[in-house]
Amino acid sequence: MALTKLSRSVEGYVVLVTGAASGMGEATAKLFADAGAKVAAVDINRDGLKRVVKEIEAAGCPVRGWSLDLSNGEAIKTVIDEAAAHFSGLDMLVNNAGISIFSSIDGADYTQAWDKSLDGLLTAHTRTIRAALPYLRKSRNPRIVNIASTEGLGATKFASAYTAAKHGVIGLTRALAVELGEEGITVNCVCPGPIRTGMTEAIPEE
Ligand SMILES: NC(=O)c1ccc[n+]([C@@H]2O[C@H](COP(=O)([O-])OP(=O)(O)OC[C@H]3O[C@@H](n4cnc5c(N)ncnc54)[C@H](O)[C@@H]3O)[C@@H](O)[C@H]2O)c1
Repeated sequence: MALTKLSRSVEGYVVLVTGAASGMGEATAKLFADAGAKVAAVDINRDGLKRVVKEIEAAGCPVRGWSLDLSNGEAIKTVIDEAAAHFSGLDMLVNNAGISIFSSIDGADYTQAWDKSLDGLLTAHTRTIRAALPYLRKSRNPRIVNIASTEGLGATKFASAYTAAKHGVIGLTRALAVELGEEGITVNCVCPGPIRTGMTEAIPEE
């Protein structure tokens, strides 16, 4: 099932992955499951989530799925509490879920694109981190990984909301690495380049 191998053992770790029903979140959930972690898979897409959970279960790995809209702070807390109770703790949070909305700065739909992008790509990370923190503080190897993008370092036209949010993810990661690092909670981010997933399937190859 694994696409690649992790460089360190995560045997027995409890890992919560957001956006686990598709693309890189699905690959991350399967990678950790294959490496012996217990996976809490979270996504707004119920059907996709069911499929991924079934596939991980079929490989004999401990997994449970939670259908969740990350714009709902209360629901996030409920799900993270449930996941931590179910697996007796939480060691790692992977903030992967995301959306991409393109709009020119003077587009009629720009305000909506901005609000949705900032909420879904950046504010949602603060919600999951705040809900996960009490459990991460009890872990012997607490980790937070935020998925940013090369858009967090550069830019593409008509993607200013996405680009600003991803720059924000890098800033949030740096700030929390300093704030939580002293407690032993590492906070890192990954900046993938273009990868063919649900998010990019409509973009022409060239
Ligand atoms: N694909 C790329 O080229 C690329 C490049 C750089 C960064 N990224 C980032 O990687 C991450 C994963 O993207 P992907 O390419 O795998 O996309 P994807 O569309 O395949 O997966 C994203 C998942 O997030 C879920 N999601 C979206 N909004 C949600 C919400 N409100 N609540 C819960 N779940 C929600 C979706 O249902 C989906 O399953 C994103 O943060 C994205 O911005 C992607």
